[in-house]
Order: sequence, then structure tokens, then C-alpha cells
Amino acid sequence: SDPDLVARATAAKAALGDRVFVLGHHYQRDEVIQFADVTGDSFKLAQQAAARPDAEFIVFCGVHFMAESADILTKPDQKVILPDLAAGCSMADMAVLGQVETAWEHFQDLGITDQIVPVTYMNSSADIKGFVGRNKGVVCTSSNAKRALDWSFEQGSKVFFLPDQHLGRNTAVLEMGFDLDDCVLYDPHKPHGGLTGEQLTDARMILWRGHCSVHGRFTLDSVREVRERVPGVNVLVHPECRHDVVKAADYVGSTEYIIKALDAAPSGSAWAVGTELNLVRRLALAHPDKQIMFLDRTVCYCSTMNRIDLPHLVWALEELVAGRVPNVITVDEKTAHEARVALDQMLALP
Ligand code: 13P
Ligand code: SF4
Repeated sequence: SDPDLVARATAAKAALGDRVFVLGHHYQRDEVIQFADVTGDSFKLAQQAAARPDAEFIVFCGVHFMAESADILTKPDQKVILPDLAAGCSMADMAVLGQVETAWEHFQDLGITDQIVPVTYMNSSADIKGFVGRNKGVVCTSSNAKRALDWSFEQGSKVFFLPDQHLGRNTAVLEMGFDLDDCVLYDPHKPHGGLTGEQLTDARMILWRGHCSVHGRFTLDSVREVRERVPGVNVLVHPECRHDVVKAADYVGSTEYIIKALDAAPSGSAWAVGTELNLVRRLALAHPDKQIMFLDRTVCYCSTMNRIDLPHLVWALEELVAGRVPNVITVDEKTAHEARVALDQMLALP
């Protein structure tokens, strides 16, 4: 990265000292991650957001929904800053509150809401988390989805899972032994989700039709091709990948899991990793004794994660040094309160 920008970021961070706390998601660019005080998957970052109650500013190097969660979980006088406001998440955008409320009203008409526990993946807007909080559900991340579903099925007999169909299906079928037929796909662009009342009444998992545009690009062919090309390769994927890909893989887990699995892997072993490219490249460089490759060379970076680059980080830090507070992410009080109920429920999972 540009040495001048590195020097400016270093100087601005030093000038701010303990007033600033920088969090970085594992999918961030190398040039940005080097300035993070804590790196993590979305679960770890949600836990860590509140770790420095004395810090005035939390600079969140990640995407919008993560910064919103950090705002909800930190003290009211702490300011959460997203260095580029255009760093959103296409998956989170696939569930809009009005659509979710329309679905819920339909479930109410069918008389099934008493049995349904809503669960939302962390990758959703604060108002979706608020909806889940007021309807006695829970937030989950890719590292605790099974625990969140176990808890939910103790509270009710059905789960309404938002917005990532793949995480919901993969967890229910591959980790909890559900049948594929236990899951139905609710399409918000079709009347009644494109489902009959009977299908909704019979289903155990009602999956929202959302997906990650990065992980959704890995295919079964990617897995077949790498197994042919690299005999003995271990295929390790994120649970946001499609069901057939996860089923064909050898290991599945969150970004934090992927990092630990590769740390523990024996020297000389070969790994094809199906997750975001910044992380895979970093892991390959960190483990020169292991053959670590990208599961599919045609899949690219997460473009919104990549919006946070060094120029944006330098700008945000220098603004803070100058006494201005740019790009503050704030969730309104009512939404924050309801979302916090669902986030706290996640943090309290056994
Ligand atoms: P995790 O951080 O939970 O592994 O999720 C990956 C992701 O896509 C974040 O946007
Ligand atoms: Fe959203 Fe996928 Fe990018 Fe994560 S990797 S921020 S889920 S689009």
C-alpha cells in the first residue's frame, strides 16, 4: 500500500490514542486490516464492539449492518464511524422491513405466528433485527447458527429465517438432520411468498429468499474441478455457500473457523477455500508451508467490503484528529432497543 497513506494513518491513529478503537472484519483489504485493533468474524466483532467503553470513536472497517450492530451494542456517547457509507451488503438489502412485515401478517392470517420463532442472520439491517426482537426471536451469525436454531426450536416448532436461505438451509439440514422438504423458500416478490397455506403450515423452516452475491457464486463444478486438479485437496467453505457446495465440501464454518482450521492444518496439506478473496489471499501468505488456494478463480472480492480502502480510512481518522466526526452510524432509539433484545439473546446463547 501507498507508504504516504500508511504514514498518515499511523500518525492519525497515534494522535487519537485510546480515543479511537478500530475494528476490522476478516474480509477487509490488507492495507486496512493492518490498522485494526481487533480483527474478527461478525460474531467476534459484535462481542468486541463493547470491549473499549472508554473509546470515544469506534471506526468500523466492515459493512453497514456491522456498524449498526456496534452502535446498538455500545454506550450512547460512543460514536461508530463507517469510513465509506456506501459499504453496504447486498444480502442485507434483500430483506426490507415492509416485505418482512407483509410476510408476518400473512402468517398471522394463517394462525401460525404462535409457533414461529423469527431468526435473523447478523447480515441484516437494524430494523429487521428490531422486528425479530419484538417477536421474541434471536440474531445469529455463521458461527452460532446451530445454537440459535436449537434455542429457537425449544421456543417454538417453526423458524422464519432471514435473510440468508443458504445459512438457514445448511444449518437445518447438514447440522440438525432436517430434511430438505422441511424447508420452504419464501420469495418476497411473489404473493404470499409463492407458497400455499399448506406449505407454510407444514414447514419447519421458512427460509427468506436472500443470498450472498459472493459466496453464491461457488458451484458444485468449482468443487469437482479442484478435486480433479489437486488430488487429496481439503475443501473448506463458508456456510453462505449454496447447499450442494457445502454438502460436497469437507469442512464448513465461519471466517473465524476457517482461520483456525488452516492454523491447525498439517504442513504440506492442500486446501481449497470457498470464502472471500482478501481472507483467502492473506491465509495463503500466512501459511507458505501449506497449499492454500481459492475454491474458484472466477469468484471475486466482496465489492462492498472492499469499498473501505486506505484512502477512506485515512480520511476518517484525519477528520477525527481535526475535531470533526464523519460518517456516524446511528440507529434510532426504539429500533436499537428492540434489536438489542435479539442481539443480547444471541450473546446469551449457551
Ligand atoms: P462471518 O463473519 O460470520 O463469517 O460472515 C461472513 C460474511 O459474509 C460477513 O459479511
Ligand atoms: Fe454481504 Fe456477502 Fe459481502 Fe458478506 S461477503 S458483506 S454477506 S455481500
